[in-house]
Amino acid sequence: MKLRQLSLAWLALLAACSTSSSGSDLEARVDELVSQMTLEEKVAQMAGTTPIQGPYGTELWNVPGVERLGVPAFKMSDGPRGVGVGEGRTAFPVAMARAASWDPELEQRVGEAMGRELRAIGGNILLAPAINNLRHPSWGRSQETYGEDVHLLSRMGVAAVQGIQRYVIANPKHYAVNSIEKTRFQVDVTVDERSLREIYLAHFRAAVHEGGAASIMSAYNSVNGQFCGENVTLLRRILKEEWGFDGFVLSDWIFGAHEDSAMNGLDIEMPLANKFKGLLDQVLSGAVPEEVVDDAVRRMVRKKLQHGLDQPSPVDESVVESDEHLAVAQEAAAEGAVLLKNANRTLPVDPTALARLAVVGVLADEANIGDGGSSSVRPSFVVTPLQGIQDALGDSVAIDHIDKNILDAQDLATIEAADAVIIVTGLTAEDESEGLLGPGDREELGLGQERTKLILDAAGANERAIVVLEGGGAITMGDWLPEVDALLMVWYPGQMGGYAIADLLFGAANPSGKLPLTIPTGLDQLPAFDNTSLEVTYDYFHGYRYLDRNGDDPEFEFGYGLSYTRFSVDNLRTSDTEAGAGDSVTFTVDVTNTGDVAGAEVVQLYVAYPGSTVERAELELKGFAKVELEPGERRAVDLVVPVDSLAYYDVSQSAWALEGLEHLVHVGVSSRDLPLSTTLTVVGKSPL
Ligand code: BGC
Repeated sequence: MKLRQLSLAWLALLAACSTSSSGSDLEARVDELVSQMTLEEKVAQMAGTTPIQGPYGTELWNVPGVERLGVPAFKMSDGPRGVGVGEGRTAFPVAMARAASWDPELEQRVGEAMGRELRAIGGNILLAPAINNLRHPSWGRSQETYGEDVHLLSRMGVAAVQGIQRYVIANPKHYAVNSIEKTRFQVDVTVDERSLREIYLAHFRAAVHEGGAASIMSAYNSVNGQFCGENVTLLRRILKEEWGFDGFVLSDWIFGAHEDSAMNGLDIEMPLANKFKGLLDQVLSGAVPEEVVDDAVRRMVRKKLQHGLDQPSPVDESVVESDEHLAVAQEAAAEGAVLLKNANRTLPVDPTALARLAVVGVLADEANIGDGGSSSVRPSFVVTPLQGIQDALGDSVAIDHIDKNILDAQDLATIEAADAVIIVTGLTAEDESEGLLGPGDREELGLGQERTKLILDAAGANERAIVVLEGGGAITMGDWLPEVDALLMVWYPGQMGGYAIADLLFGAANPSGKLPLTIPTGLDQLPAFDNTSLEVTYDYFHGYRYLDRNGDDPEFEFGYGLSYTRFSVDNLRTSDTEAGAGDSVTFTVDVTNTGDVAGAEVVQLYVAYPGSTVERAELELKGFAKVELEPGERRAVDLVVPVDSLAYYDVSQSAWALEGLEHLVHVGVSSRDLPLSTTLTVVGKSPL
C-alpha cells in the first residue's frame, strides 16, 4: 500500500516540526486554523478548481481556502514575462533578455512590478520565475529561463523571487531538470548525484534559502526513475527535509501529479483534482495518513498568513500597465540587448547624418514578444522596432520600410540608395515554444534559408548593414555574420522593445548586455539534445563548461557583449589570500570608462580548481557586478565570493565539501576575456 514510501522517521519529523515551531505566534495561528478545519475542507485545499478553458490566461487559477475561517483561496497566474491572465498587462522582455542584463537589482524591480500587477487584479501566486538550467539551446522554452549558468540563474532567480514576493507569492519552477518540450510528460532523466546537486538544483536551493520562495512548482518529467510530481527524493528528502523548505509544492498542470504524489510531498494538484480525486477516501481508509494532509495545509496556511494574503490588496488596478511599469519594461529591454558585433563603430547611427534609412524584414513591424505558451502576456499595445525607429527619427529621415523577407531587384535598389540598412529578423513563436502550444523544441539553431538570404541580400546592397536579431536563445550565424557590420541581439524585448531598440541604435542608450548563454558555431559544439527517447542521461557538462573542456571556440562566448565605449579593468586585489568555510572574500578591481560616452560594464569573476580531486569545470562563474561609468570615470568594484560557494557535492559523504586547494581566480569581462588573476587558498577540506 501507499504508506510504504512514508517512513516513520518522516512522520516523526512532521510532528517535531509542528512542535518546535508552535512557539511562534504564526505557527500557533496556523495550528489553530488548521485544527478548526474539517477533513473535507483540508483535502479540498489540495487541488485547483479551474478547468483549462480555451486559450491560456482568461481566469485566475483557483485553489479554495476556507472562507468561514477567513483563509483565502489561492488565485494564480502565469508567469515569467508578466501577468498572463487578462489583457492590458505589462509585457516585459522574456527572462532570457533580462538575464542578459546581468542586473539582479533591475530583475528585482521587474519581479516587483509583475507581483504588484497580479495583486492589483486579485491574484496572489505568480507562476514564475522559471529557473531551469538551459542545458541545450534547442529547448523550446529557453526564453523563459535565465540561461546556462548556475550562478547567474541563482542571482536572477533570487532577485525575481524577492521582487515578486513584495506583493504575492512566487513559484520558482519547474523542479527539476526540466529542459525538453517534446517528451516533457514522459521523459525520465538519469542524472548522477553530483550533477543533480551542483548543476540542476543549486539555483532552486538559492531561491528557497536566499529568495525565501514560498512555493515551488514540480516539473512534468521524471528524474532518476520517478516523476518529479511524486519524486520522494526531490520533494521530501531534498527540498523539505534537507533544505528545510516550509512552503508548499504545486504540480505542473494536468499531467504533473501521480499515484504517490500526496505521500511523497506534492501539496497541491493543479489545475484540478485528478490524481487527488480519491484523496479523501484514501485518508478515510488509512491509506494516506491525515498528517500528510495536515502538513500540506499547514504549509499553505503558513504562507497565506506570512504573505498577508488574507489582507486586502495594497494596490489598485491603476498600477497595471502603468507608465512606471512600462518604464521598467523599457529599461529591461535596453539593458538586456547584447551588442555582438560593431565593425568600424557602425553603431550608434547618428540620426543627423542620415537622409534615408532602409528598415527591412517582416519582423520590423511585428509584435514579436515571445511564444504563445503559458508565459504569454497580452499587453494593450506593442511598440515594434519600426515604430520605435520612426518615433526616434521623426520626419527628419526618410524611412523605406520593406515588409518582406524575400527581396526583389526593386527592394535591393531601395536598400542601396539608403545611408544604412537595418535588418530586423530572428525567431518567432513559429520556431520555438512551450510544449504543444506551438512547435516546441527548435529543429535547428540557425535562421534557416529564407532569413539567412534576407540578411545576405540586404547586407550585400548596403555598406552599413545592421542586424537586429530577435529570439529566445542561442542562434547560430555561420556565413552571414562576416557580411554584416553590426549585430544587436534583442531577444523578445517586450512591449516597449521598439523604443529600447531605437535608443540603442541611435545612441540614446548604450548597450551593456552580456550573453547569458554560449552562442556556438554549430550543434557539433554542444552535448546531444535528444527529444525523442524516453530515457536520457545528463552529466556535469553543458554550455561554456562543455566547450571549455573540449577546447572549442564558440561564435560568442558566455558573458560576451560590446559597448559604445571602452573600459579598462585593472588592479585586482583581494581582502584575503586564505579563507575557510563560512568566510567571504572580497576581490576588488578598478574599472575605468576610457571612451567618450557613458556606459556600463559587467565585471565577471571565474574560479578554477587546479589539483581538485574531483572532475571540475575549467572555469565557473562565481561573481559579477555591473557598474555604470561616465566617460573618464574610474571606480573600484567589489566582487564578494562566499567561500562556501566553491564547494562541490561530495557524493561519498552526501554533503557539500570544500577542498583545501589553491583556487585560481580570474577576473575580466567575459568567460574568455579574463586578463586579471590571483589565487585564493582554501584552508582545510571541510564538509559544510
Ligand atoms: C507549464 C507551466 C505553467 C502551467 C500553467 C504548464 O503547462 O509547464 O510553466 O505555469 O502550465 O499555465
